[in-house]
Amino acid sequence: MRRLLPDPAETSVDEALATLDFADEGPAERPYLFTNFVLSLDGRATLGGRSGKLGSDADTAMLVGLRKRAEGVMIGAGTMRVERYGQLRNNRLVCVVSGSLELPWDAELFTCGEGRVVVFTSSENEAPETATDVHLVRHEGLVDLVEAMRYLRAEEGIGSLLCEGGPHLHAQLLEADLVDELFVTHAAKLAGGEGPHLVAGLPERERALELAWLLHEPTTGELFARYRVRR
Ligand SMILES: NC(=O)c1ccc[n+]([C@@H]2O[C@H](COP(=O)([O-])OP(=O)(O)OC[C@H]3O[C@@H](n4cnc5c(N)ncnc54)[C@H](OP(=O)(O)O)[C@@H]3O)[C@@H](O)[C@H]2O)c1
Repeated sequence: MRRLLPDPAETSVDEALATLDFADEGPAERPYLFTNFVLSLDGRATLGGRSGKLGSDADTAMLVGLRKRAEGVMIGAGTMRVERYGQLRNNRLVCVVSGSLELPWDAELFTCGEGRVVVFTSSENEAPETATDVHLVRHEGLVDLVEAMRYLRAEEGIGSLLCEGGPHLHAQLLEADLVDELFVTHAAKLAGGEGPHLVAGLPERERALELAWLLHEPTTGELFARYRVRR
């Protein structure tokens, strides 16, 4: 892998990520929040309904490495239903945002019996019994993501949070100005079809980003970009 920006040099995913320490960067009222997505050249976030076919071993290494830099991982219910997360050993907490509470309760994340899951929900339903410790935090109407972030910082002590999508959750986090950085894998592929994009339902407005690094993986042609949100 080669770093194209800044300071061109040979590097690796591990070496690039070793420079990151997000633990103390967040403001007092919420975790430092960074997001990770893989996209095709035509801007699709899925191929065959999943994100996995867009990525590669290097992209997986980036995702796993980013998880290690985060105390918690956040996903939307749509992503949980499609990707059916398993146990995330490197993270103290996984949080899921769901209006309906219709989650794949038989997925390993809920059945493994390890770790802690917080589900922010606006549903009044109860969750089924799970081997994993699942804590429901209820909101009225839609989940208030500013309040959810405050909860994660104040009640769970989460200082750094990786959001792995999907596009609907990502758009709301951006609109609420809660995102600090975006890690985007630009796959050297076209996907076509009608799949989702990086964001879904984001109101039109220019939001300036600063390109903090650009890495190139020659075996796949992927570009790994790290953007900071300009404030
Ligand atoms: N390329 C990538 O890197 C990448 C990353 C992630 C996901 N994806 C793909 O994206 C697709 C899923 O997209 P998506 O946009 O539907 O996923 P999503 O954003 O993960 O989930 C949307 C769901 O999250 C819940 N939600 C989000 N914000 C909420 C709020 N404020 N209050 C209450 N509930 C809220 C709702 O759940 P309920 O329906 O339970 O009410 C909503 O239907 C999948 O195909 C997945 O593979 C791709």
